[in-house]
This record gives sequence, C-alpha cells and structure tokens, in this order.
Amino acid sequence: MNRKLIAGNWKMNGLSAEAEALAGDLARRYRGAGAPAFDMLLCPPAPAIGLVGRTIAGSGLALGGQDCHADPKGAHTGDISAEMLGDLGCSHVIVGHSERRQDHGETDEQVAAKAAAALGAGLIAVICVGETLEERDAGETLDVCGRQLAGSLPPGANPDTVVIAYEPVWAIGTGRTPTVDDVGVTHSHIRGTLSGRIAGAERVRILYGGSVKPSNAAELMAVANVDGALVGGASLVADDFWAIGAACG
Ligand code: PGA
Repeated sequence: MNRKLIAGNWKMNGLSAEAEALAGDLARRYRGAGAPAFDMLLCPPAPAIGLVGRTIAGSGLALGGQDCHADPKGAHTGDISAEMLGDLGCSHVIVGHSERRQDHGETDEQVAAKAAAALGAGLIAVICVGETLEERDAGETLDVCGRQLAGSLPPGANPDTVVIAYEPVWAIGTGRTPTVDDVGVTHSHIRGTLSGRIAGAERVRILYGGSVKPSNAAELMAVANVDGALVGGASLVADDFWAIGAACG
C-alpha cells in the first residue's frame, strides 16, 4: 500500500493573513504529530507561495503550485514557470485541473507539456483527470479518464515524478461524490492505464478529489487504489483538512 498524500488545493483563496494563519496552524499540527502516517501538501495561490513556504519551513509539510507554464522562461505575461515554483520551495505542481481545462481551454497535449516542464524543473506533477456529468451519464467515465491520462502523461513519468488525481468534474465543490464502488472501479482503471505505460505503476499515487470532507474521508481513503486526496474547499479550514489527514488511519 502506498503512503497516503493529502493535498490541499486552495484555488484562488487566501490573502496573506489568512494564508499565513492556515499554513501556520497546519505546520504546528504536522510537526506536533511526530511521525504522521500521511504526507501533506499545500498548494496556495501563486502570490502566497513564498509566504506559505516560509511559514511551513521545517515542518515536514510540502509546498506546491496550482499550475505552471510549459516553458522555463520567456515572454508569457502573467504566467509562472515550474522553475520559479521550485525556486520558491515547491516540490509539486498541479497540472490539468478541470478548472484550468475549462476556464483556459487546456488540452491533454498542453497538460503533458506542463507536466514535462514540471519534471524538467525537478518538481512532481500532480496530473488531474476526470469526467463531466454528461460524460458520466453517457457511461464514458473510464474512457474519458483513460484518454486524458494517456494524453497528459509526460515522457519520464514514473512513481517518483508524477501523482495522478481523479476528480470527477461534477463532484468538485458540489458536495456530491461517486459511490466508493465507482471510485474503486475508476482508480483501478487508472492503475491499469498506468501499468501499460510506466514501470512500477503500482507505486504511483492516485488521489481522489471532489467534495472530500471529514465525514467521507475515511471511507474514500479505504478504497483500493486510492492513495490520498486532492481537497479544495475543506483544505481552507485547518480542522477539516487535518481531520481528512487523520482519516488515513
Ligand atoms: P473540492 O475541490 O474539494 O472543493 O470539491 C477539489 C478540487 O477541485 O481539487
């Protein structure tokens, strides 16, 4: 069984004071817990990354970005490179989140290029896949996830360089989640898709994301092939995010 990773995607939330308070609270809990049974990753919005990095220094918490550009530098106004994230102390970066795919029209090809840039900068790429409600209702969940995954994996992907996050689009921020059986089937399919493509696929961590909260975390984290959670809303409340970690057993 893989060690669980609990990742907090703060999205576009967190002014300096809030970010510092939340990160400080979690850092104290993680440090105070001795040797927690799970890894914890904070992905604040870009302007707060430096501050959060300083706040959690030495705590054992990991730091990540929410997106990066495919190029290491250059004329891309408003964008952030993977190298810049690494320079701020990030070890991870989320790529291909459905909100990026929807709001910015990101394709699998672009996500793969971003993931490749992440690996090039020494970061772990957290690659997101997931079906829309329409696709789910049409029975296309496994096809969509398999296709997105195959198209979004960068060259050089291995268990130490990529994490996969399965996030059904219809479950994000809605309070709805798939059944644990459905989560198990999709994660197993993702594991199978990885097996055909990278060595040691059983060691790749596959996170579930979409309305994870303290009340459903234990049952979701107990599903086979679920190696952690990517958490949005509940990662903004220290008690809730910590409880999700604690649910890893
Ligand atoms: P949610 O978001 O936990 O608020 O549903 C998850 C995500 O989008 O990563």
